[in-house]
Amino acid sequence: MDNMDALREQCFSCQSCPLAATRTKVVFGVGPVPSDIVFVGEGPGQQEDLSGEPFVGAAGKLLDDMLSIIDLGRHNCYICNIVKCRPPQNRDPKPEEQDACIGYLYEQLKLLQPKIVVCLGRIAAMRLIRPDFRITREHGQWTQKDGSWYSAIYHPSALLRDTAKRPDAFSDLLLLRKKARELGCL
Ligand code: URA
Repeated sequence: MDNMDALREQCFSCQSCPLAATRTKVVFGVGPVPSDIVFVGEGPGQQEDLSGEPFVGAAGKLLDDMLSIIDLGRHNCYICNIVKCRPPQNRDPKPEEQDACIGYLYEQLKLLQPKIVVCLGRIAAMRLIRPDFRITREHGQWTQKDGSWYSAIYHPSALLRDTAKRPDAFSDLLLLRKKARELGCL
């Protein structure tokens, strides 16, 4: 058992916030350890809660398509969320739920040693980049933090709801590929 396995086991029995009571499965994260590129969403939806895998529902299918545009797939990046248990009715995770869970993500990032962290949407960006991050203005911008490069792109669910955002998302993905190539991740 490696350290990520041990952390996963610990997370599976977590009771640190009320989401534990309503979850079906903990959605810890998937991908190789270490990973040069990590994607962080906000929290599991219904399909993820049932399967235990991040991004397997409609948004996940779109995420897979987005990754494939830039030569990425589930085999060569890590995918996880800010909170590991589903918020009921897919509401945003509350600050106190994020606080209770964020330690797992910090431990994951320590073990993954990513060169690039991509926040999927506003919630992850506000938590990992800056509390006042504005996704509409700042998507696709890069900032260096704790030895990794951070950026945020539109959440795939937002791209399903509002297709007008897709051209921006496409440009952001091309910038991501450029950064990944520069850093030797691709
Ligand atoms: N949305 C997220 O933010 N994460 C998932 O795992 C699925 C949908």
